[in-house]
Amino acid sequence: MSSRNNLQSLFSSEEIETAVKRLAAEITKDYQDKNPLVIGILKGSFIFLADLVRLLDFPLEIEFVRLSSYGRGRTTAGKLNVVQGLHSDIRGRDVLVIEDIVDTGQSVSFLMDYLLKKKPASLRLCVLTDKPSRRQVEVSVDYLGFTVPDRFLVGYGLDFDEKYRNLPDICALREE
Ligand code: IMP
Ligand code: MG
Repeated sequence: MSSRNNLQSLFSSEEIETAVKRLAAEITKDYQDKNPLVIGILKGSFIFLADLVRLLDFPLEIEFVRLSSYGRGRTTAGKLNVVQGLHSDIRGRDVLVIEDIVDTGQSVSFLMDYLLKKKPASLRLCVLTDKPSRRQVEVSVDYLGFTVPDRFLVGYGLDFDEKYRNLPDICALREE
């Protein structure tokens, strides 16, 4: 049985590629000579980040952080924490955070506050998908791939119960 029976494709890999190229062009314009530190939020950003940075033809460094709280399933569970942190000093650095999706905004807003306390020279946010209808905390997104409807999305790094991250397109789970 195909694993895709309960999925509706929203953005094809071609559409994603076009969006990632557009974002890479914007980021290149802004960070050309800045040797930025690109910080991916695990696990959801890993494919997006991998595709994006390969289109950035200037010096940069890459780090990953991992946040707690998002357990298995669809909703927030518990208090946010950085469970796998930075190995670089970000003071005075130009920092660009990469995330898969901004939903309520809690995760990204927590991480941006955490990073700001470390006094970077600049701090910006690049997200693949934004679900503004669900927002609880104001978040300013500097580079955006897609605005998405209030559906649960999987694929291209996004998971449901750790599954579907490997899909090449972005899909919505069909409501049962
Ligand atoms: P927020 O803190 O509510 O903005 O949620 C952000 C995190 O929740 C993301 O990094 C995802 O890990 C997870 N998340 C939120 N919405 C979705 C979705 O539609 N599909 C998969 N993961 C999601
Ligand atoms: Mg995530």
